[in-house]
Amino acid sequence: MDTVTIEVIRYDPTQDAEPRPQRFVVPTEKGATVQQALMHIYEEQDSSLAFRCGCRYRYCGLCALEVDDKPCLACLTPLKDGQVLKPLRHLPVLRDLVLDRSWVFDTMRNLQLFIPEMEYEELPERIFEPEEHKRLMQCTECLACLATCPYYDYRDASFGGTYTFVKLAQLHFDPRDQTDRVAQARKLGVERCAACRKCQCPLGVPAWKSATSVLLKHASSRRD
Ligand code: FES
Repeated sequence: MDTVTIEVIRYDPTQDAEPRPQRFVVPTEKGATVQQALMHIYEEQDSSLAFRCGCRYRYCGLCALEVDDKPCLACLTPLKDGQVLKPLRHLPVLRDLVLDRSWVFDTMRNLQLFIPEMEYEELPERIFEPEEHKRLMQCTECLACLATCPYYDYRDASFGGTYTFVKLAQLHFDPRDQTDRVAQARKLGVERCAACRKCQCPLGVPAWKSATSVLLKHASSRRD
């Protein structure tokens, strides 16, 4: 059986002074993914390895991590010899590859990212789905985009980061939404993104083109 050697950066903040690399030799075959290697380690070699996964094929976003410093989804990333697996940067580590995502979702809760119930007569006469909305709805909430954002820091409540702007833009394009999402984006520092454009999504959701830049354009037109 063919094998590859990979390195996982492990860390338990309750016990370790700092993260430490650990090597594993894992079986591989044509089409093998990083996710399969993690499952193999957990089931056959070391069940203390912590990582998340759900759907195992691109829908849930839970398996996001960094492979060779590049944010990606473990279930879509081909397994290769010598890869180094780390948790996504910019969020606190709970253990190994598992992040504390509660910081992000607390921000989300405060933004009321839902459309309140409406009476039939209050609904817009015609509901159509703009192309931008369709593209943004492909976001799997993996949070990998936040790892590509140079400004994002979970301790800084004054800046929302790419994921937040994608969620706000999804609603901005929804004709039933009554909340001023541009005002919310301004409060969360979207104007800092103007000269950056470094955010990326492993699934190709156009976070800059269809979300951040759209919110920015509206925010700039409101500048005093
Ligand atoms: S396990 Fe669901 S997206 Fe990878």
